[in-house]
Amino acid sequence: MQVCRSKAAIRSTIAAFRASGAPVVLVPTMGFLHEGHLSLMRLGRERAGADGRVVASIFVNPTQFGPNEDFDSYPRDEARDFDLLRAEGVDAVFAPEATEVYSPNAQTIVETTELAKTLIGKLRPGHFRGVATVVTKLFNITRPDAAVFGQKDYQQLAVIRTMVRDLDMGIEIIGAPIKREADGLAMSSRNVRLTPQDRAAAPILARALDEAEAMAPTGITASRLRSHVRATLEAEPRARVQSVDIRDATTLETISGPLARPAVILLAVSFGKVFLIDNRVVHPAQEET
Ligand code: PAJ
Repeated sequence: MQVCRSKAAIRSTIAAFRASGAPVVLVPTMGFLHEGHLSLMRLGRERAGADGRVVASIFVNPTQFGPNEDFDSYPRDEARDFDLLRAEGVDAVFAPEATEVYSPNAQTIVETTELAKTLIGKLRPGHFRGVATVVTKLFNITRPDAAVFGQKDYQQLAVIRTMVRDLDMGIEIIGAPIKREADGLAMSSRNVRLTPQDRAAAPILARALDEAEAMAPTGITASRLRSHVRATLEAEPRARVQSVDIRDATTLETISGPLARPAVILLAVSFGKVFLIDNRVVHPAQEET
C-alpha cells in the first residue's frame, strides 16, 4: 500500500494506477478505523473489481468542526489504521497534514444551500459546508470514478449526492449500510470516548429505531411516531436528546400525516460530551406508487 502525504504524491500514484485503464474508487475517512469503515473499503473493492484500485483517505478535516466541538480530542491512531487498510488490500492511502490540504488564503467553499441548514446543519452550523468543501477537494485531488460513503451519516450522503448532481462532478456515489456492534450500537470512532455507563446506555438509539421500524407499517402518523421515539430515548436518563426527525427518505423534506412513502428517522443524542447519531429508513405497509 502506497502512503501519500502530499497532493503531488497521491496524484502521481493514481496516475500510475490509471495507466491500466481500470477504475479508481475513493473511500474518504477521518481515520480511527472500525468495521464500518472497513465495510466501505470492501464495497469499494467490489466496485473497483480485481484490476481496479481502492484509494482511502485519512484526514481529520478541521473545517467541519465547530469552535466548541471535538477536533482536538478526535481519536487518532494512524499506524493501526494503515495496518487495517493493508489487511483489506487497499492500494493507496492519502494521509495529509491540514497545511498540505488548505492554503492559508483559501476563500472558496462548496455549500448545498438548503440541505446544509436543516437537521444536523442546525445543530452544527457550518459542518456540511466543511464536509462538501473537503470532499470536493478530495475528489479533485484523486479524480475517482466512484466514491463510497456510509448511510450512518445519512444527511452527509444526501449532501454529497446533491453536490455531485448540482456541480456535474460525474462521480458515482455508492451508499453503504450501517455496521453495528452486537448490541445494536452503530459503530463510530467516537464510541471509544463513551464512559462504561454511557456505553451501556447507548444502544437505546438502536432500540428506539427498532420499535419505530415495527410501528411504521401500522398507519401511524409521522408526528406520533416521532413522539414515541423521543419518549423511548428520554426514558434513558443518561441520554441528552438533541433531535429526533422523520423526513422523506429521498429528499429529506418534512412529512406529516400517515406515512405514505419510505421515511427516514434521524436521531442525534449526546452522552456526556459524546455526540452520537443514528438513523433508519422505515416503510409504510403499502407504499404509494
Ligand atoms: P468518518 O466519520 O471517518 O466516516 C468515514 C465514512 O465511514 C463515512 O462515509 C461514514 O458514513 C462511514 N461510516 C462511519 N461509521 C459507519 C458505520 N457504522 N457503518 C457504515 N459506515 C460508516 O464521515 C466522515 O468521516 C467525514 O465527514 C468525511 C466524509 C471523511 C469528510 O471529512
